[in-house]
Amino acid sequence: TRVEFLDYEAVVDYGWSLDDDELFRKAGHADLAPDAHGRLLVHPDESLLEAAERSGFAWPFSCRGGACANCAVYLAEGELSQPTDHIMPDDLAERGFRLSCNGYPLTDELSIVFNVKQRPELDDLIL
Ligand code: FES
Repeated sequence: TRVEFLDYEAVVDYGWSLDDDELFRKAGHADLAPDAHGRLLVHPDESLLEAAERSGFAWPFSCRGGACANCAVYLAEGELSQPTDHIMPDDLAERGFRLSCNGYPLTDELSIVFNVKQRPELDDLIL
């Protein structure tokens, strides 16, 4: 699976919005650092977080077991699995929030914003 990723810090810095359809196009024009916007490949049987680490990126995490939301990402395109054993409430999952530590791609292409743990709606979940 090919993943296009974007750091939430850049979204904040530029005053962009997560639900902006043009978000990744804008990121492509913003000349961001390679670890803030780019692409990586997720191998079969690899979680999104594992793929990012194998690719040399340091994305936030803590428990690695679906219990803390430090690893949360926002799914702009594609689908990432959401195991039943996790902390993410249904309403946030419906809005596109997923956990990268136990999320496995279900589509060939994904666009995700990582580092969304600082979003206010995730505050209560961060341990
Ligand atoms: Fe804790 Fe993913 S690292 S839920």
